[in-house]
Amino acid sequence: MELLIKSAAIVEDGGYAKKDIYVKGGKIAEIADAVKKDGCEILDAQGQFALPGLIDMHVHLREPGFEGKEDILTGSRAAVAGGFTQVCCMPNTLPVCDTAVGVGYIKYRQAQVNLCKINPIGAITKGQEGKQLSDIGKMAGAGAVAISDDGKSVMDSQMMRLAMEYANDFGLRCLCHCEDANLSDGGVVNEGYNSCLAGLRGQIRAVEDIMIAREICLSESLGIPTHICHVTTHSGVQLIREAKKRGVKVTAETCPHYFTLTDDVILDYNTDTKVNPPLREEIDRLAVIEGLKDGTIDCIVTDHAPHTKKDKETEYDTAAFGFVGLETSFALSYTYLVKTGIITFAKLVELMSTNPAKILNLNGGKLEVGAPADITIVDIEKRHTIDPSKFLSKGRNTPFSGWEVWGDVRATIVDGEIKYTDEKGSVV
Ligand code: DOR
Ligand code: ZN
Ligand code: ZN
Repeated sequence: MELLIKSAAIVEDGGYAKKDIYVKGGKIAEIADAVKKDGCEILDAQGQFALPGLIDMHVHLREPGFEGKEDILTGSRAAVAGGFTQVCCMPNTLPVCDTAVGVGYIKYRQAQVNLCKINPIGAITKGQEGKQLSDIGKMAGAGAVAISDDGKSVMDSQMMRLAMEYANDFGLRCLCHCEDANLSDGGVVNEGYNSCLAGLRGQIRAVEDIMIAREICLSESLGIPTHICHVTTHSGVQLIREAKKRGVKVTAETCPHYFTLTDDVILDYNTDTKVNPPLREEIDRLAVIEGLKDGTIDCIVTDHAPHTKKDKETEYDTAAFGFVGLETSFALSYTYLVKTGIITFAKLVELMSTNPAKILNLNGGKLEVGAPADITIVDIEKRHTIDPSKFLSKGRNTPFSGWEVWGDVRATIVDGEIKYTDEKGSVV
């Protein structure tokens, strides 16, 4: 199991350096100007970049229970096609992943499928019902990397406090889907000018902001880290920025759709624009970008939420919330953040690899000797049109169909094994 990646550009602060990367026994064994080895597999990366394997700390793989939308095999294929060497999957499956057995099942399936690394996230409360804490300690023992009731907020603040304390004892962080369930009150889009025009029920920003503020308050009072999922509002970004300034241990993520789209796109009632939290307004989109730039938002995740055609081919009010994202995230992020000059390529690598690894204490995010050989090879000069019919995910629900983007994943290497190339597709 030896692999020599030839002439890859490695991103460094302020530029890049051209190197050979020699991989042995699943680890990076050498990085040098020119490595000579006989008899090993060669991957010519001339004109391409080698990045530390991308990590998506927020995906929905749907198995068990919703295999019509996605399963662990198709979700893993989509992940490696998108350049991800590790993903973390949310527990809103059927049954909900709220026990050590549920966590073990995902680990077992990950080993069977053996494409990207899959880190299970356990539920905060049993059945994600917000009433009783799940067996957080046992899930930690079985390999859960975090806990979350994503899809819902834990509305009971005392329950959330106990969850944070309990999880913290096992070194796990709570990942908070911030939505005041009473205030969101059936809203399907952002409340504002466009929701009025469209005649659709809206959610005001406070739906999200109130819960962001609560998580910050809990984190600050308890001295326990917290993580805010998919930030979308300008006011939420500001709450996190101010909290970080005071020294609160809060981290945050956003998704490509929140820095590329506004709720203008809901006006044609295409249900592929329906997502929770909803697409907001230009002031929010710009604030999310500013948050990514100044470090208020620590990482980019996809919130990959595959749904069937049937789930989406219905009226706007009843359609399922969510977009697939694994196969578009890198190109959208590269095109709209790096190519536009908003952030450096090095910063994008932090947002999509280094920081998620740090936040969840994952072994990854580094391209250095001794590290696991989790490597993503990309061609940033390659332009392509997003075509959902080519996705390896079962989900086709994306608002980005037909978009022209730059940046193509050429190969995805996990523990030194090539799991995807753009010529051969996924290896399983
Ligand atoms: O749009 C969303 N889809 N938001 C969520 O919070 C859940 C997710 C899903 O599971 O479909
Ligand atoms: Zn969520
Ligand atoms: Zn989610």
